[in-house]
Amino acid sequence: MDPKKTAPLLGRRAMVLAAAAAFVPHARAADVPRFELGVASGCPSEHGVVLWTRLTGEGLPAQVPVCWEVAHDRGFARIAQRGEELAEAAWAHSVHAEPAGLEPAREYWYRFTALGQASAVGRTRTAPPSGAEVATLRLMIASCQHYEQGHYAAWRDADPGLDLIVFLGDYIYEHGSSPLALRRHRGARVENLAAYRDRYAQYKSDALLQAAHAAAPWLMVWDDHEVENDYAGAQGERLQSHFLDQRAAAYRAYWEHLPFPKSARPRGPDMRIYARLDWGTLARFHLLDGRQYRDPQACPEPGYGGSRTLRLNDCRALLDPKRTLLGGPQERWLEEGWSTEHRWNLLAQQTLMARFNTEDPAVGGGRYWNDGWDGYPAARQRLLSVVEHRRIPGVVVLGGDVHTHYAADLRADFDDPMSPVVASEFCTTSISSRSWSQQRVDSLLPLNPHVHYGRSDRRGSIRFEVDSRELRAELRAVDDARDAASAVRTAARFVVDRDRPGPQRA
Ligand SMILES: [Fe+2]
Repeated sequence: MDPKKTAPLLGRRAMVLAAAAAFVPHARAADVPRFELGVASGCPSEHGVVLWTRLTGEGLPAQVPVCWEVAHDRGFARIAQRGEELAEAAWAHSVHAEPAGLEPAREYWYRFTALGQASAVGRTRTAPPSGAEVATLRLMIASCQHYEQGHYAAWRDADPGLDLIVFLGDYIYEHGSSPLALRRHRGARVENLAAYRDRYAQYKSDALLQAAHAAAPWLMVWDDHEVENDYAGAQGERLQSHFLDQRAAAYRAYWEHLPFPKSARPRGPDMRIYARLDWGTLARFHLLDGRQYRDPQACPEPGYGGSRTLRLNDCRALLDPKRTLLGGPQERWLEEGWSTEHRWNLLAQQTLMARFNTEDPAVGGGRYWNDGWDGYPAARQRLLSVVEHRRIPGVVVLGGDVHTHYAADLRADFDDPMSPVVASEFCTTSISSRSWSQQRVDSLLPLNPHVHYGRSDRRGSIRFEVDSRELRAELRAVDDARDAASAVRTAARFVVDRDRPGPQRA
């Protein structure tokens, strides 16, 4: 868009805005805060990025024009682009603006105005040109922000020096409210569109989460709690009929509240989130969807659809080679997308990929949780075999879900400690969701020698600095998740040599 051409248009639009403000059918509509949920940006590309907000408050008309501005400077002295979007009641008055024609590898600031009010200012950036050599990439991974179980002190690490924040799932939790909670969910268990929208609004009212969104562009995948615990494809945890209606409502609210492009808008119960992003020739991101296309968990309890832990000898179905976590089309898409042209292949997905046995294998062949990759071992083997046989460089798997910091080797064969390490894994602890006791994790690590580190007793995130030779990881831990002002410290450091897979303690 040429800013010179849009200037007179904006004059007219300002009048339209003023007129719209005048017709808001609410006694004191001008006093109602309209940008209470903050701003966000996401899905950056070489020439664009998605800018998000959602109008709030009583008495909004069915359609509200919202202006957006992108500037080269924090003070908006040098405007790069302006435009307008319609916020519609049908989509919860969310705005997904998509400026195109921005310059690659540049930092920008953005804000919205509507109904006589202005939003907070967000900072974002575009991706480097494809094929360009990029010296460094700074990113943060995070997941699992149960509102009732902690404050979001971990998000204070989301500073504007980051190139990207990658969120790996469990943005909301669907549970009702617990009387013992640190801060309580509004409303009962979430199952319909109005309730999902309200749950996102409650989570997004948190100032630290808003600041994290305003600090850097996000890449996002979901896990189960954006819909409900342990769902698998078209099957709910309680085997309820009409689960796909619930999934449709949940996916719709998810799209409405995050900076996804319009092209990702869900159709009924379907929304495509798996995607790739290249960061010059330094890194290729593969963002996976481990929920929408998976087979149901193997050997469930009768009449129940959720997860459990199982002895391998009691559930041979677990080993069925036909079982899939990603679904056939996504598996093939990943297989075709591995890059030998990039220094790193960063696989952003929901959960721990390394095998994690919780019982002496002499008892029953080992005991595994059937909701994670351990419930789909043949699918994991297929994925890692491709990495091994095609010698895919710099594969680092990034996960969340299990509310524990793990650093692990991904081996070609987890039963053979001499088999080659083909990839590295970092799994982040939760932003606020509770976990196992540290004692329990400590007792299980000896059963899993490929897992070098496990800390479940701290909330936090992982920050990475990546260059062409090394990926350096800082495992960040909050002192006290009951305190929003708590200090955050580095609990451990690891480094991965690009040519030698496996995290090394630094
Ligand atoms: Fe979680």
